[in-house]
Amino acid sequence: MATIGIAVLAAGKGSRLKIDRAKALCPTLGRALIDYVVEGAMAFATEEGLEAVPTVVVGHLKEAVRNHVEQTFPGQCLFAWQKQQRGTADAMRSFFEECPENSAQDFTFVVCADTPLLTAATFARLWEEMKSRPGLKACAGTFHADDPQGYGRILHEGKGFRIVEEKDATPAQREITEVNSGFYLVRTAYLRERLAKVDNHNKSGEFYLTDIFGADEDVAAVSYADPLVFLGVNTLDQLEEVGRELRRRKNVQLMRQGVLMLDTATTYVDWQVEVGAETILHPGTHLLGATRVGSRVEIEPGAILRDSVVEDGAAILAYSHLDQAVVRAGAHVGPFARLRPDTDVGPNAKIGNFVETKKARLAAGVKVSHLSYVGDAEIGADSNIGCGFITCNYDGANKHQTKIGKNVFVGSDVQAVAPLEIGDGAFVAAGSTVTKDVPPGGFAIARSPQVTKEGMAKRFLKSKKPS
Ligand code: UD1
Ligand code: CA
Repeated sequence: MATIGIAVLAAGKGSRLKIDRAKALCPTLGRALIDYVVEGAMAFATEEGLEAVPTVVVGHLKEAVRNHVEQTFPGQCLFAWQKQQRGTADAMRSFFEECPENSAQDFTFVVCADTPLLTAATFARLWEEMKSRPGLKACAGTFHADDPQGYGRILHEGKGFRIVEEKDATPAQREITEVNSGFYLVRTAYLRERLAKVDNHNKSGEFYLTDIFGADEDVAAVSYADPLVFLGVNTLDQLEEVGRELRRRKNVQLMRQGVLMLDTATTYVDWQVEVGAETILHPGTHLLGATRVGSRVEIEPGAILRDSVVEDGAAILAYSHLDQAVVRAGAHVGPFARLRPDTDVGPNAKIGNFVETKKARLAAGVKVSHLSYVGDAEIGADSNIGCGFITCNYDGANKHQTKIGKNVFVGSDVQAVAPLEIGDGAFVAAGSTVTKDVPPGGFAIARSPQVTKEGMAKRFLKSKKPS
């Protein structure tokens, strides 16, 4: 069984982005550019039954890149530090010097961290080429670019080919539209032997990895029909372009699994989000981060869900905002609801409009239908909370807990001054400011008695008018 190494080049400066962030970590569809590349490489290796540990070549902002990759792919990647960014061949020297185990692999893939649209199939294509031609030393992915500006041009010469960089190309060579993708598969022994000879005698003064190819060598330029897979992110408009393509792929994948989308142009589903069949996503839906949505869920226009879970048959009505919340089966939330972190809405419970929750555990069948704030609270099954209920959870220094039992009725405009416990089956009258615990089955009313004076309305108003 052949062994492969994978070099993920991520040391470059990315100065054309005009933002102070490692290019490999630019976000697209809820994850970093480099995540797609590493995942594509690993998926390829798994499909082929190969053992592969990608090595990320880091340099510019190396700690940030390394920390991110270690967190995202714990223990699955190696790192090579390229101390100075002196070109792509220099990056590959670091790949071997810093991680000697890479020299022991039969083959080496080279891929740039900023090309998130390539997939396992992109890797497989070069792999097939290599397997089908026993003498082959190296192959490079190429494509035809309508506008080849900025790319290395492919010069078919002798039995092999050469690559000439834009800067070093003659006007005639610049007319060539077959360009270098920067994606290669090379026999490791050949790569090391050629790397030792690469110099920097060119217009950029850089060590070009492209110099490993040559007219007299047994090397192949493998042309890909779809140039999109090699779209690299050098500028923020290219970042938007790859984001759009990834979003399209994600939406298509979900629709093929039975997710109904009314308007894919305005439906934003991050790469790692899961959605069950027969769920309906209305226009303007945002499912972000690690969100998971079950089957037969309806998500109405303008809903934003981040790192949240929605179970089967639930509904998230228009313009609701969920952050780290759980909505259990059959529950209804919104419209215009705001569920903040650590909210758990029980099965068949109902959260209505203009309700905000935080660290709130609502059991099955609970109803909080209108204009309420429920924070640091627990509400037992089938309790009904009236309009305008507020947990006064903060005393200016500390947060306190409100615990409401099952089958409790809380009237409208009630303030629960925490810490507070209201027992099962209790009743709290409307307009009460509750400061003391209410025992199970108890009735609490806490409002000042009403005073009514016959015919006083007119006199009262008159007394207020300026004379
Ligand atoms: C490179 C190719 C070019 C090809 C193009 C495709 C060379 C000499 N040229 O050009 O033929 O058409 O990619 O996009 O290879 N990097 C390092 N260390 C360095 C320099 C770069 O790790 O010292 C990394 C970058 O982070 C990036 C990748 O290598 O991920 C490519 O570098 P970049 O500067 O974008 O190469 P291009 O000039 O675009
Ligand atoms: Ca580039």
